[in-house]
Amino acid sequence: MLYSLARPFLFGMDPEAAHALALASLKLIERTGMASILADTGPARSVRLMGLEFPNALGLAAGLDKNGEYIDALAAMGFGFIEIGTVTPRPQPGNPKPRMFRLPEAQALINRLGFNNQGVERLLANVARARYRGVLGINIGKNFDTPIERAADDYEFCLAKVYAHASYVAVNVSSPNTKDLRRLQGADELGALAGKLKTEQMRLADAHGRYVPLVLKIAPDLDDAQLGAISRCLLKHKLDGVIATNTTVSRAAVAGLRHAEESGGLSGAPLGATSTEIIRKLARLLEGKLPIIGAGGVMSADDARAKLRAGASLVQIYTGFIYRGPELIGEILRAVSEAAP
Ligand SMILES: Cc1cc2nc3c(=O)[nH]c(=O)nc-3n(C[C@H](O)[C@H](O)[C@H](O)COP(=O)(O)O)c2cc1C
Repeated sequence: MLYSLARPFLFGMDPEAAHALALASLKLIERTGMASILADTGPARSVRLMGLEFPNALGLAAGLDKNGEYIDALAAMGFGFIEIGTVTPRPQPGNPKPRMFRLPEAQALINRLGFNNQGVERLLANVARARYRGVLGINIGKNFDTPIERAADDYEFCLAKVYAHASYVAVNVSSPNTKDLRRLQGADELGALAGKLKTEQMRLADAHGRYVPLVLKIAPDLDDAQLGAISRCLLKHKLDGVIATNTTVSRAAVAGLRHAEESGGLSGAPLGATSTEIIRKLARLLEGKLPIIGAGGVMSADDARAKLRAGASLVQIYTGFIYRGPELIGEILRAVSEAAP
């Protein structure tokens, strides 16, 4: 309710400025103990997955809280899990502004932020300050100026840094906004990266006496052969799960709309069917051996249900949360709990 009042004002602003203002306001509201005036938390049906207990199946997707500055405020909105990042080893400013665009007729966004973040040390300091004790995913990436041939070094570095502080670690090889990053989804490149990260994960599990699941986040722009190769790689290297999907570079669903030709990743409603199809194919390829976390264009309870029916065990939202606000969380959780056996 409150969000629907604030939305016209926020949507009148530059998208990135609105984003910063909305998160700062959310934090202030939470700090003053007033989160319940915004939250629509809905009933909870817990999900056990990857050795973790998720209080409900709906999470916040990566990229909204890149530095882990708003964990408590976002948790108060009722998410069952929160994924922060993408974080890189060193701070970096990202691409020149403007770099985020709204396509309101399509309930979509295009962004080319380029992993703007304050670096892994700052993220960890923010995590240490948070009161949240729920499921926290930390999404890791590479700095823009690390050559792609050395990408594994950045991922290994971030994995070791965040390991003790994460419930799971998401390996982002699917942002379209870091040059050549998506090449890491190729069979050879992914095999090499997954092998190295698995070795590092096992070393860290031993050192910390705790196994932290490692999941791969993939793009929606993959053909069947690529999806098959990725699935084989996930199983071979015993990764713990997959997040499907990141944003798309396709503009087929928004052709002709204002901002449609901006470069970057498209998210929101026009991505929904594509990402659900990727989930369906992955579910067949993985035969239930690995869990799938579904993301992409979840703007309603029906969209969330479609992802679960296609084979996802959990769902994440980002653009839907921008367009619909906290009310979308309650709507989805009520629908998902009604669908429970
Ligand atoms: C502005 C913006 C920034 C994003 N940043 C990241 C990021 O840093 N890392 C990442 O893995 N995904 C990032 N994403 C992708 C989302 O996590 C999600 O996978 C994608 O947007 C599809 O979900 P949606 O349609 O609900 O937004 C970003 C998305 C948006 C819109």
